[in-house]
Amino acid sequence: MKKIRKAVIPAAGYGTRFLPVTKATPKEMLPIVDKPTIQYIVEEAMESGIEEILIISGHGKRAIEDHFDSAPALEMELKSKNKLDLLKLVRDTADVNIHYIRQRYMRGLGDAILCAKSFMEGEPFAVLLGDDVVYNPAKPALKQLMDIYDATGGSVLGCQNVRPEDVSSYGIVAGEETENERLMRVSNMVEKPAIDEAPSTLAVLGRYIIKPQIFELLEKTKPGKGGEIQLTDALCRLAELDTVYAYDFEGKRYDVGDKLGFLKATVEFALRREDLGEDFANYLKDLTGKMK
Ligand code: G1P
Repeated sequence: MKKIRKAVIPAAGYGTRFLPVTKATPKEMLPIVDKPTIQYIVEEAMESGIEEILIISGHGKRAIEDHFDSAPALEMELKSKNKLDLLKLVRDTADVNIHYIRQRYMRGLGDAILCAKSFMEGEPFAVLLGDDVVYNPAKPALKQLMDIYDATGGSVLGCQNVRPEDVSSYGIVAGEETENERLMRVSNMVEKPAIDEAPSTLAVLGRYIIKPQIFELLEKTKPGKGGEIQLTDALCRLAELDTVYAYDFEGKRYDVGDKLGFLKATVEFALRREDLGEDFANYLKDLTGKMK
């Protein structure tokens, strides 16, 4: 069985939910405290053992490439001022094996993944979506999926249950139980169903291990929900031909593609910081006291 070595991170979308900031700044560069959201995603991939990352880029996304590049002038400046901690921060982000390709037309997530076909060279691969940031210091969400792939050999979708009123924002899966209570065998998938048409409340939350047969299926997939080529539709077909699992991963997941979700992530990540947490918690207590 082939090992999972490569990951794809789609990052070509316009980020309309965050206008006006996304007019000239990629939404993937919006910081949670002081780190761009895409860096959290890249770090999760690296910590899970991924060796090569392909970012699907697009117009106006050059800041992402600059972020993961070396920055000689800045590095020299920090070195001459003996700011070695900052120098390390700057260098670490350049120390990742990242490749880029541009999605020329915005035809949906399925089409974005199809851009990764030649990069994957017939290997099974990981997908991480930048709108879903998962906090789990014990074991990254992607690593949990990779372990399930190693144990079963099937494609694996990272899922969690969502509130019934939120099913229309996600790909929703239905399936059969297995001996592992966190693991289901997928029998059906629907992209963003209406609440009364959803087969369950188990939503795919931005982490996937997918076998390379998906590319042929994506090539044949017709535009679906929203007129876009949906990854969910191709995965549903894959589940008919091969085993696809849904794994209820452990970790606190934030929808940073949504303004409220982004604010929650900002507050909670700040509270977890050694250098900021205590002062920030005191400030929040004081503030909430005053706002009552
Ligand atoms: C995408 C997928 C959807 C998935 C979601 C997770 O939707 O199409 O199946 O559940 O990501 O965040 P998007 O939020 O990009 O519209």
